[in-house]
Amino acid sequence: MPQKIATELITICHRVEHKGFVTATDGNISARLQNGNILTTPTSLNKRFVQIEDLVEVTLAGQHVRGTRKASSELQMHLFVYRNREDVNAVVHCHPTYATGFAAARIPLTSNVFPEVVIGLGDIPLAEYATPSTAEVSESLKPFVQNSSAILLSNHGVVTYGKSLWDAYFKMEKVEHLAQMLFVAKMLGGEKTITDDQVQNLKKAFLAVK
Ligand code: 13P
Repeated sequence: MPQKIATELITICHRVEHKGFVTATDGNISARLQNGNILTTPTSLNKRFVQIEDLVEVTLAGQHVRGTRKASSELQMHLFVYRNREDVNAVVHCHPTYATGFAAARIPLTSNVFPEVVIGLGDIPLAEYATPSTAEVSESLKPFVQNSSAILLSNHGVVTYGKSLWDAYFKMEKVEHLAQMLFVAKMLGGEKTITDDQVQNLKKAFLAVK
């Protein structure tokens, strides 16, 4: 088992639990290995308690390679993202309270309120309701998988993905923070979006300093 990536995956497991993005045995995290296989969390284990020996390695087709536990029940969703996005090396699925609240109210998260979200994340679309752990979940991601890296799953939770485990994880943090800030703005009379011109200026300014 590649130790570095396995250790990082465990760190992210502990972090999502510490941040309260998951409860009980919710959530699942995976990473693409150099050999093209996928390392995933097992099903039904609290993320605080996941250890390297609990991780499960599978092929991109979902065949078991290594590990004594059963892979996450949402493995098909993770594999769907990897198969459709060669640039993606990690997938994080959680049920953070505010973002999942928006997913239950079926309100997508708009980015055009906070400059750092415009730059760092973009809009977070809402996938149609799908029965967890079934192929329906992958089907619900189809319209968004290419152009998004964070998606709300109706009445379910959030999936984020990126070039590394930290990248995918930080997107989850940003989604939940965005949902909290939007929730507060809605309590205060409703968020005001920045204009398309302001978004363009923001992107230009960002390119100039990065
Ligand atoms: P697993 O324990 O099978 O990974 O499932 C947890 C979950 O959050 C399902 O959506």
